[in-house]
This record gives sequence, C-alpha cells and structure tokens, in this order.
Amino acid sequence: MVDTLAFPIEKTTQSRLSQVDFTNLGFGKYYSDHMFIVEYAEGKWHSPRIIPYGDLSLSPATSALHYGQAVFEGLKAYKNAEGEVLIFRPDANAQRLNASAERLAMPALPEDIFINGLQQLLTLDKDWVPAAAGHSLYIRPFMFATDAYTGVRPSETYYFIIFTCPVGVYYNKPVRVKVETEFTRAAKGGTGAAKAAGNYAASLLPATLAQKAGYDQLLWTDAKTHEYFEESGTMNVMFVIDGKLITPATSDSILKGITRDSVLKVAQKLGIPTEERAVSVKEVIDAAKNGTLQEAFGVGTAATIAPIAVIGHEGTDYTLPAVENRTIAPRIQTALDDIKTGKAADPFGWILKV
Ligand code: COI
Repeated sequence: MVDTLAFPIEKTTQSRLSQVDFTNLGFGKYYSDHMFIVEYAEGKWHSPRIIPYGDLSLSPATSALHYGQAVFEGLKAYKNAEGEVLIFRPDANAQRLNASAERLAMPALPEDIFINGLQQLLTLDKDWVPAAAGHSLYIRPFMFATDAYTGVRPSETYYFIIFTCPVGVYYNKPVRVKVETEFTRAAKGGTGAAKAAGNYAASLLPATLAQKAGYDQLLWTDAKTHEYFEESGTMNVMFVIDGKLITPATSDSILKGITRDSVLKVAQKLGIPTEERAVSVKEVIDAAKNGTLQEAFGVGTAATIAPIAVIGHEGTDYTLPAVENRTIAPRIQTALDDIKTGKAADPFGWILKV
C-alpha cells in the first residue's frame, strides 16, 4: 500500500484564481490550480502526487482513447458560514468509482487514496471553493486505461486523477424533456449502472436530436419495451404523483445516484412518502392528463434537483404545474442544501470537513 498521507506536492508558481469571474462561473469553465494523480502498474497504485493543473502527455495508442476503459465520478464541496470546506459524501463516490471500475475490468482504488488525495487537494485549493448560495466546487475524479497497446484487453496500467472546478447552476431554467422510445441509454447486462465514459458518449446523438426538436433533454426508457422510465438526461428521475415521491428502482441499467439516494433519505426524514419501483410511461402520462402529476425532476450531482417543466410524448407536450407552485422538491432541496453548507445538522454523517 502506498503512503497516501505523505506524498509530494508541487505548488503552482502562478495561481489562476484572480482570472475567475465568480459572478459568472457557468459549469466546467474554470479549473482550479492543482490536481491529484496516482498511477497503477504491476498490480499496484504508486506515485501519488499533487501537481499544477495542466495537460497530460499520452501516447496516441492510449487504450482508453480507443476502447473506452474510462470511468468517472462527480461530487461537490461547499463552504460553511465559517469559511470551512465541507465535502458531500466522498466515501459514497469512492465506493461507486470502484463499482464502475469493476464493471469495466479496471482495478479498485483503495478508498484512503481517494479520500486523502481529495482532502489534500482541497486544503491546497480551498480559496477556489465558492461561498455564494447555489455555487460549489465540482470535483471530478476519474480513472482511465493508459496502456499504449492496440490489442483489445484490459489495460495493465491506469491513471486516477482528481481535478476541481468552481461552478454555478447547471440548468438556469426548468427543463423540457422528451420521452425517448427509439434510442436506448442502457440495457440489461450492459454498463448503465456504471459511471462509464462511453455511456455519456452514446447519449449525445439522441440528446442532440431532442434539442433540435425543441427539448433540453431526454427521459430515457428501458431498452426492451420502452414502456418504463429509467433516467433523465445525465440524472436519475423522480415524479410526485398524489403527494408520493416516486422513482424507478435502481438496476443494472440505472445509475445508483448519490443525489438520488440523498433526496430519498431527506424526503423520508421530512415525512414525504417515497416509492422505489417500476414507473411506467403510461402511469406518468395518465397522471399528467388527470392532474395528479404534481412534479417531475432530475436528480444528480451537477444540478442537484432540475425541475421538469414539460414532458413530450408521442408528439404531445404535457405541461406540468408551474415550478413556483411546487412544494415537495423545494422542501427537499432546502433541507439538502442546509446539510451541504453546514446550516443544518448532518443527521446522516454525510459531510467530511477538510
Ligand atoms: C450528475 O449530475 O451527476 C452528472 O453525472 C452530470 C455530469 C456528467 C456533468
């Protein structure tokens, strides 16, 4: 096991922090000064280090570029009123990274390397964590295959890297989504439950076609029948029907979203009834028609909760109740934000203070 607590740190000589417009952060526009890297070879992780954020030098034969052995994570850090940095559920992301890695025949990364590397990175770049409401530091850990080898086999070498970026809101308005019944995000036995880079690549064409048709994103349905909802865009999806918060149960074609899990746990604590089960397109469209569909929203790290304004299905657009009149998602969002930013106690033990 490498010594993950004592590794070299090369500080940048020229911080880029003064170039950041914290009033107009966007999402993924700015990258913090440093990144954490650890390499894998001969069955071991080695050479952990923090270096200035910058380009990598890779062989054109790097196998991740050809065969997609690449997985990633997304999590966030916040500032509390005292200016301390709070990381939200990093242990859950470290564990999911390894679940994704296993599915793609990649090695597991010891959790202490992930957590210690991240803590030291945020100690160094703490001034990059925005303090404004709704802003955060988005953290992108990822692992990819680095063998310069063109035969198809699991790589024998890997990089694990963490970089971070200060971010604002992901969606600046409620989204219009189209029920996708032609393309498929993930099938049973596939990689849908893994946060695999290729899943996102495969979603780009269907999402682009939906955008051309006037929607922001898709509501993915199951590969076999296209009769059951799975996810929304790059997020899990939830519906409020008759006062109950309903979401598709996770499976090997649905990501075990950490925001999904957090939203369910907070909802249960607030006394909101929750159901994790198969959710059919028919049930939701019928509820939209008869007025019992009160809310729909995507849940993910980037957006936390992204309200859905319109669901398009078979050429008809169903408009949901105005976002200002919704109660369930805003209650959950406030309770969750208060935990993340240290305004409220953390009854779940989710926060790791840097
Ligand atoms: C998330 O919100 O959890 C995501 O995966 C979005 C990310 C790909 C930007």
